[in-house]
Amino acid sequence: MAYTDNYERDTYGIIAFWLRNDYDHGRFFDREISHYETELARANLNNIQRLGRVWEKAAKKEGDIGTLLNEAHHATTEFHSLLAYTMDKSLHCEVIISTPVSLLDHMVRESEESQRVYKLIESGAKISPSDAIIHECVFWIRQMADHLGYIRHYSDVSNYEVNFQVTEMMQKFERLLLQANALQTMIRTPRNETLPILTQFKNMIIKEAKSLEAFKLELDDLIKKCAVATTSPPDLLEHIAREAHHLWRNLEEEIIT
Ligand SMILES: [Fe+2]
Ligand SMILES: [Fe+2]
Repeated sequence: MAYTDNYERDTYGIIAFWLRNDYDHGRFFDREISHYETELARANLNNIQRLGRVWEKAAKKEGDIGTLLNEAHHATTEFHSLLAYTMDKSLHCEVIISTPVSLLDHMVRESEESQRVYKLIESGAKISPSDAIIHECVFWIRQMADHLGYIRHYSDVSNYEVNFQVTEMMQKFERLLLQANALQTMIRTPRNETLPILTQFKNMIIKEAKSLEAFKLELDDLIKKCAVATTSPPDLLEHIAREAHHLWRNLEEEIIT
């Protein structure tokens, strides 16, 4: 699994994960901006370059964590603004892009999650295992359902069987999200203990995320061999496989990163 070769879970590795996430989003978005939108394309390109530079620093573990967090925070804030501004434009039908609004929103939410993680690292705040499990599930299960929606969005209509399977998997994750939302309100704060119901749910999500990761990597292989008709960016499946991996690793450790 090539993509886990540079997936590390020390502090630098976690910052690198999130920076790379934004960097990839910028690259994917770049393919979907109409040539009429020169200003947007240029602004996005500047963000890609800036995020790429900070990501490289994090990946090489250069400099101290404080400086890196500061640079990551600034680069992410700027990219977040561009995405949120474009999403608003899109809702007003004032921009020519092929990116769905929900996909812009998906990227905005991941950018916001990265800011939460940077703050957590900075403050060194302790989160109870129960709070961490609930947070990770509520945040990531929606992202996982979205990913399946985007696989279908890019997949050619002629892939009838695959598209049907992907839809079924998406609906499964939508149900799991409802369950995560239910657990979030049923298990009240302060969450000082981890109830068996939550542990059981966590184990189910770890299993589901692992098999989703495997499915994404299978599809990744086919797309890279050009063996399936899709307009997906070639490394999108690797990107979302990495996110599934991140989810189950966080759940196993019962932490927010
Ligand atoms: Fe992402
Ligand atoms: Fe995602």
